[in-house]
Formats: sequence, C-alpha cells, structure tokens
Amino acid sequence: MSKPPPSVRRRDLLAQSFALAVLVACTGPEKEPPSPTDDTGEPTGDDSGDDTSADDTSGETATETGGETGETATETGGETGGETAEPEPACEGASEPLPSTCVSTSGDGEGPYYRTEYPERVNLNVLEEAGDELLIDGRLLDERCKPVVGATVDLWHATPKGIYDMSGDYHCSGRAVTDAQGGFCFRTLRPPPYSNGMGGFLAAHLHWNVLIGGEKRLTTQTYFADDPELDATTKPGDLVKTVEPISEGLGRVRVEFVLRPR
Ligand SMILES: [Fe+2]
Repeated sequence: MSKPPPSVRRRDLLAQSFALAVLVACTGPEKEPPSPTDDTGEPTGDDSGDDTSADDTSGETATETGGETGETATETGGETGGETAEPEPACEGASEPLPSTCVSTSGDGEGPYYRTEYPERVNLNVLEEAGDELLIDGRLLDERCKPVVGATVDLWHATPKGIYDMSGDYHCSGRAVTDAQGGFCFRTLRPPPYSNGMGGFLAAHLHWNVLIGGEKRLTTQTYFADDPELDATTKPGDLVKTVEPISEGLGRVRVEFVLRPR
C-alpha cells in the first residue's frame, strides 16, 4: 500500500484540526452551567431564595436593632416618666413622730354589720365604685406610746349608696395588720350620712375593730369634721377626724388608736 503524497497528508491534518476545532466550539458552551436568570424561567425565584437569605439577615439585624431601640425607648420613657410625672398619692401609714403622751382611745358602738372574715387588703373599693376617695393613714400604740406590732385592724363602713355590703365581696370593708411602726393603711370611698330610721340621718362614720390574737381590744368609730350631720350624731369623746384634701375627689385621714392595757 502506497503512502499518500505529503500535500495530501497536510490537507488531511488540516481537515482533522478544523473538525476538532468546530467540535470544541460547538460543544463547549453546552457544558457551561445554565445561568439561573437565562434559561430556566423560574430562577428569579431561586435567586430570590438566595436573596431571602440576605433578607433574613436584614430581618435579624432589624429585629436586633428594633429590640435595642425598644429597650432604649423603654428605659428612656421610664426615666422621663419618673422625672416628670407627679407621684401617685399613697397611704403613708405611721409617718408622724411618736407622741410623748398617749391616752387610751374611747370605744364606740360596733353596730350590726361587722363580720369576722374580712380579707386583708389596702384597697377597699372592691367594686370600683365612683365616689370621693380617702387615704387612711393609721397607727396603733399602747399607753406608753409604743407601736403595737402585728395587731389586726378591721375597717368597715357604708358604701357611697349608704348601705353595708354583706355579700362575700365586702365592698368597703377590709383588714390590715400593723407593721413594725404600728402603722396600717387603707384606700377607700368616703361614706355618706345615712338614714337613722327615724326620719333623720347618722353622720358618716367608719367602724373599727382592733384585735390581738383574735381577741377584740378596741371597738370604735371615727367621724368627719366637715360632716353637716356631725352635731346631731356625735357625743363628747367621739373621734372626729379632719379630711386633708389631696386633689379633687381625694383626701387623707390620719387615725391613731391607743390600746388600754389589759
Ligand atoms: Fe354604721
């Protein structure tokens, strides 16, 4: 078998090289990974998915930023509120200096409406009834003017409608236990004068019982100095207290009871 002339071999080699170049040129691009945005049609969503990661990151950042901002705002708001808002009037209990002499408190009628199961509480406006309010600051002493600690103080009185709540709520009734200074506190509604059943009125009053170890040590009542029915009701020695105005519809009454020795 004879060899082709050199010119023919060169043509064949050129032809083979050209064919190979065409093959590479045609197959190369098909092996490239498709662009998500070019061919598939849905890629925008996929990309958005990737972007969602970025969005998530942004969300985390926003959340953190928001949290920090919220905390800062809260702190700032609290401080600002504390600096600018007037303090809520509160019961003060035994805040006055101790007296140098003490005389035992005179007793007064208990009446028919006392109950032994009043809950211990400061706010006696259980039914959130409208009416003038009283902060009652109390102190219990003995005849040596020493605070009586751990005594039970029961307070009950008529509601603004002039009735005693005998339901289980005991609206306008409650119990306190004297603290280390002999102090006790109540916030309640001011009672009105109510009918005496004989065509007249009883001056408005608060009923009190003081107990130690379950034993009644004092039963009394207090009245209000500005009550128009006062003279028709009270007798010498009754406990008449002044209402110190705090704001519209809110006043303060200070009571001090002295127990006689047993
Ligand atoms: Fe009464």
